[in-house]
Amino acid sequence: MAVVRLEVADGVGTIRLDRPKVNALNAEVTGELRAVALEASRRDDISAVVIYGGERVFAAGADIVEMAPMDQAAMSGWATDLTQTFELVARIPKPVFAAVTGYALGGGLELALCADFRILADTAKVGQPEILLGVIPGAGGTQRLPRLVGPSRAKELIYSGRQIGAAEALAIGLADAVVPKAEVYEEALRRARQYVAGPALALAAAKRAIDDGLEIGMSEALRLETGLFVGLFGSQDQKIGMESFQANGPGKAKFTGH
Ligand code: CAA
Repeated sequence: MAVVRLEVADGVGTIRLDRPKVNALNAEVTGELRAVALEASRRDDISAVVIYGGERVFAAGADIVEMAPMDQAAMSGWATDLTQTFELVARIPKPVFAAVTGYALGGGLELALCADFRILADTAKVGQPEILLGVIPGAGGTQRLPRLVGPSRAKELIYSGRQIGAAEALAIGLADAVVPKAEVYEEALRRARQYVAGPALALAAAKRAIDDGLEIGMSEALRLETGLFVGLFGSQDQKIGMESFQANGPGKAKFTGH
């Protein structure tokens, strides 16, 4: 029985975590998540992705029972696998939403940080509690969280290990929307569907320009943007988009994704 599934409907792929009781991330989850991240990246019938842990919990973090007995050598491989897998999720070249109900803690929040957007239930609780276990976030939390909310807010959350609610997450930019718990998945799907039949190559280029550009200096980032911008000229969608504008005005183009 898979602990991570890829379910595809109407152009949206849902990466569904399903490891009772709390979607703790163990080696099995990591392996399956890696496979579905690659599949979601590759498949033409998936235009956008929702990561969802079910109605009760997003993920309570890395599996503490599996990690507890590990020495440095064992943890080195384990942590590298998890971090590389999350990198594959972050690099899915399509809009990605995390639909968060219940807890997104530790590695669970780190996974949600790999999405482009986070939709939280009004009852959700998120945090990086690793410090309370005598360690630090080890799957991107010390890097993605400060880039999203700023270094001092990230430090306060990581130093204290405290959980925050949805309203605070929204106020600091960690959540993009807060909705009633029963509507979280539908809201994420609704937002994801906006990109179905969109200009897939341009969306992928925009994501890459922003994410890769944030990692390098401004001059190099501007050259990256120019290269990606120029690269879109000659695509079907660039022709369709510009011809449609001239014939019918803005926002009417029917893109092919090529
Ligand atoms: N790993 C393994 N098992 C976990 C777990 C985790 N991260 N989180 C919860 N569980 C287990 C509990 O041990 C419990 O198991 P049993 O029913 O067999 O006793 C079950 O899930 C339900 O948990 P609770 O009974 O504690 O349920 P709760 O609703 O009272 O509390 C909780 C839920 C707030 C998530 C609490 O369990 C908790 O604080 N969990 C730990 C969260 C955490 O520290 N995460 C960070 C992990 S380290 C990490 O992620 C490293 C990294 O950066 C890569």
